[in-house]
Order: sequence, then structure tokens, then C-alpha cells
Amino acid sequence: MSITARDGISGMMLCMAHITTLTLNPSVDVLTTTAQVTDTDKLRCSTPQYHPGGGGINVARVVHRLGGSVQALWLGGGITGDQLNDMLNSEAVPHQRIPCAHATRMGFSVHETQTGRDFRFVMPGPSADPAALNQVLQALSRTAPDSRYWVVSGSLPPNAPQDFYADIAKLAQSRHQKLVLDASGPALMAAMRVGVHMVKPSLREMEEVTGTALPTMPQRLAVAREWLAQSWCELVALSLGPEGALLVTHRGAWHAPGLRVPVRSTIGAGDAFVGAFVTTLDQRHPDNSTDTWQLALRHAMAASAAALASLGTALCQASDVASLLETVQVMALEG
Ligand SMILES: Nc1ncnc2c1ncn2[C@@H]1O[C@H](COP(=O)(O)OP(=O)(O)OP(=O)(O)O)[C@@H](O)[C@H]1O
Ligand SMILES: [Mg+2]
Repeated sequence: MSITARDGISGMMLCMAHITTLTLNPSVDVLTTTAQVTDTDKLRCSTPQYHPGGGGINVARVVHRLGGSVQALWLGGGITGDQLNDMLNSEAVPHQRIPCAHATRMGFSVHETQTGRDFRFVMPGPSADPAALNQVLQALSRTAPDSRYWVVSGSLPPNAPQDFYADIAKLAQSRHQKLVLDASGPALMAAMRVGVHMVKPSLREMEEVTGTALPTMPQRLAVAREWLAQSWCELVALSLGPEGALLVTHRGAWHAPGLRVPVRSTIGAGDAFVGAFVTTLDQRHPDNSTDTWQLALRHAMAASAAALASLGTALCQASDVASLLETVQVMALEG
């Protein structure tokens, strides 16, 4: 099914922001810690922390903290939707909620203090409501005239058409917006076939869509270059967990090795990466030289490493990103 935006529906133009993030299946993230996760016994946990969650929402929180011009567009309902709304207000992240019929999901993470492992319980979220999805397209088509980037990140709601991100890619093209996509599986492939500005798969996600293990850098580079050759995207930022990230473009490829920082939790590292990358692209606008791309990679590496220091989706702070920036190395790859 393909959904197109209808004209003539009343609604406010979204606030002036260069970057609009979209989250179709957000969550209220609950984080707690316990000594050891076992079955049957009661697990005594620490006082929970609550964070707004979902890919696009996290990206917007990072952009906002780094001083970028951003708004988060998100689909949410019920009491948990209200809670998410309040949390975004208290972080002062500009945002607009598109109401939907069913309650926003919760995400539950338990950090096991004896081992440092994270147990992440991810619920499916409410099914897609076609009217609400249509409103998403309308809201996107009303982004302000100085809007530049749309960042679509996270999973589709259950039952949403797998080509919904592809519909957004078409809309982005017609509105001259640069679409940055952090998605996986068929939704990622469908949108790439339309053509997007940038994709940020993790190695796991790239291996999943290619159906092959990619243990070496030349293999990873070859896949990214194939995506560029197909005109599926202009920038491939492949994140490699502790191995860092590869940035592959028509004008060069670079590897930034992972920073050696204490890892408390990897939750939110990918969102911090995308947030810092797109903030830098926007702040350097209209310069899209290779220097800008390398700078964006540096900031992305620093932000994702900074996010490793905090548990759950607490994400990164600007001061930590700034202090890690000098430690990032970026190496050009030949051939
Ligand atoms: N263990 C680690 N050590 C150092 N840096 C890390 C580590 N894990 C993640 N990072 C940093 O965070 C970035 C994003 O991490 P990763 O590649 O795991 O993506 P992700 O989007 O969080 O993964 P996924 O979506 O598959 O859960 C990496 O490019 C790297 O800079
Ligand atoms: Mg990710």
C-alpha cells in the first residue's frame, strides 16, 4: 500500500527548523539496574529513570543539545503519549505530536551491574493507523521553507506499509529535502530504491539486508559503493560498533576507528552518531565539501562515544562531545 499526502487539510506549519526528525513508533523508555538478571526470583531494582525514546526522538534530543535547529515529529497516543509529550517539553526539544488512537509503547531496559550487560525488552508498539500515517505525510509536506534535512529513524509500527519510508523518500525529493535514513530490513531497501541523501546502517543491518557476513573492510566498502553506484544514496555512514565507522561517498571513503572509552551502555550510540552528523552538515550548509563530511564523521564519532558513558537513552552531553572530538582519527581509504 502506498499512502500519499492529501492537500487541503488544515494544520499549522511546523516550527522553523532546519532538521525535522520523524518517529513513527516512539517509546517511553524505562531504565533500571539490578545486580544479576535471573528467572523466578524477584529482582530488586534501582529507582527507574524515564527517557523519551525512539530513533528520531533521540536524534532530535542530540541535535538540540548540540545547538542545532531541530524539531521532532512523532506519532503518539494514550497516557504514555502524554508522558512522552511532557518529557520532550521538559527537555525543551521543539516537537509536534501527531495523535494516534492507541497508546505509545514502553521500552524496558535492565542494566546488570555485576556484568555490565544490558537486557532490552522492546515491545511492538501500537498498529499503524492509516489516517495518522496520512497526517504524517501532510505534516512533513508543511515543513517550513528553510527546512533542509528530514531524519527518519527507527522501526515502522506493526502493519504499516513496508514502503512507507519509500513514500517519504519520494516526498523528500519533491520538496527538495535531504533525507537521512536510519532504518533496517525491507523498509530501508524500499526507501533506498527511491533514493535518499544518506543512510546509517550498523554492520548488523548491512549484513541483514545483503544476506552476507561482511567481516572485512574491503567487503563493507564494496557494498557501500554498490549502493552509491545504484544511486540509492549519496553518503553511506556504516557504523561498526567498537570498530568505529566507515563513511563512503562518490568523492572518497574514510574510516574512523572506535574511540577507546569506558563503555557503560551502547544504547543510543547510533542515534547520537546520526544527530551529531546531521547537526554538522546543517551547520556547514551550504558547504558540502569532503572537509564537511569528514568533520561530520568526527562529530558523529565523538557523540556516539560520549553516549557510551551513560546508561539507557540518556544519550550524550555537548561538553563530553567537545572533549572527545580531539581524540577522533579519520583516515582516508584508498581505492
Ligand atoms: N563498544 C564500542 N566501543 C567504541 N565505540 C562504540 C562501541 N559501540 C558503539 N560505538 C560507537 O557508536 C557508533 C554506533 O554504534 P553501532 O555501530 O553499534 O550502531 P547502532 O546504530 O547503535 O547499532 P544497532 O542499530 O545495530 O543497534 C559506532 O560507530 C561507534 O562510534
Ligand atoms: Mg542503529
